[in-house]
Amino acid sequence: MADFISGFWNAYVMVLVTLSILFCVFVLASNMTRRKEGAAELHGHVWDETLAEYNNPLPRWWMYLFWITIAFAIVYLAIYPGFGDRNQHRGQWAQYETEMKTADERFGPVFAKYRQMDLAAVAADPEANATGQRLFLTYCAQCHGSAAQGAKSFPNLTDGEWLWGGEPETIRTTILGGRMGVMPPFGPALGAEGVKDVANYVRSLSGLAHDSLRAQRGKDVFATNCVACHGADATGNPLMGAPNLTNKSWLYGSSEATIIETVTHGRSNKMPAFGEFLGEDKVHMLAAYVLSLGKK
Ligand code: HEC
Ligand code: HEC
Repeated sequence: MADFISGFWNAYVMVLVTLSILFCVFVLASNMTRRKEGAAELHGHVWDETLAEYNNPLPRWWMYLFWITIAFAIVYLAIYPGFGDRNQHRGQWAQYETEMKTADERFGPVFAKYRQMDLAAVAADPEANATGQRLFLTYCAQCHGSAAQGAKSFPNLTDGEWLWGGEPETIRTTILGGRMGVMPPFGPALGAEGVKDVANYVRSLSGLAHDSLRAQRGKDVFATNCVACHGADATGNPLMGAPNLTNKSWLYGSSEATIIETVTHGRSNKMPAFGEFLGEDKVHMLAAYVLSLGKK
């Protein structure tokens, strides 16, 4: 569970809960006054000419109800356990541990069997893909989409186009260690006109409508500034995660305005590392599943 919650938030909640309970105790204790001897006092406020109010203490039975809620809160926190005590194997922690253990016992041998097979063989196994898909829906779909078709800035994993490479081992490495793609900003270096020229050249590469005069000038700008990452023929470089700019697959978008934005301000995005979180066996299943998607 420490994967999800850092110790700081545990402490933060514990301090807040303790302070709130102490505050309730203080408010209650300071209101437990007794009725004074003699005639009852009046509050001193008068409404509607004659309507006054006795200054009597709050009823005892009513105050005791509040004391009972405080006692209940303390007992509840101790039993739940609400004080983040993950070493006491009970309550939700125990439930989580038992569920994880049952799942490991049930799926461990299945994962181990597939782990012996190479990725291409696992990718061709329908049963393995069904398991891989379930893992994908749990851990990956929030970014890549449930059909793995991606969204703006999140790559489509089904189109056979790869930023970092589609070899089985490369896909596994991507999932294990994560990736960080960085396209630097060129606005300051090229100026608005230079950016517009190179954007038109980029559009010309995949046969999109463009201003040919600008594209002509943009070609030189590209040769000087962009080939180091995107390659002389602009087909990308999997060592830097630089995309192929000559095809119909776009990470951010192909409109002139979007390309200008990309080149002016730069782009960067991060694929998180899953090796430590999921373990090699699950990553193996996921890599095979992703591989099977690219094949379609
Ligand atoms: C928080 C969002 C996020 C999650 C969750 C996520 N990814 Fe990614 N993934 C990305 C981003 C962003 C990239 C592109 C990184 C870049 O810009 O270079 C990426 C890239 C990839 C790539 C490389 C694609 C290529 O074209 O080379 C693969 C493969 C991949 N993810 C698989 C997965 C799998 C499998 C999971 C689930 C275990 C997963 N991702 C979960 C955001 C995410
Ligand atoms: C340091 C390497 C590097 C250089 C230099 C570089 N790029 Fe990029 N470029 C990248 C990377 C990496 C990405 C993907 C960013 C991401 O994953 O978020 C990218 C993305 C892009 C995209 C978005 C493509 C899409 O699919 O939406 C365009 C357009 C682009 N670059 C054009 C250029 C142009 C034009 C130049 C030269 C002016 C240039 N790049 C220079 C690394 C580079």
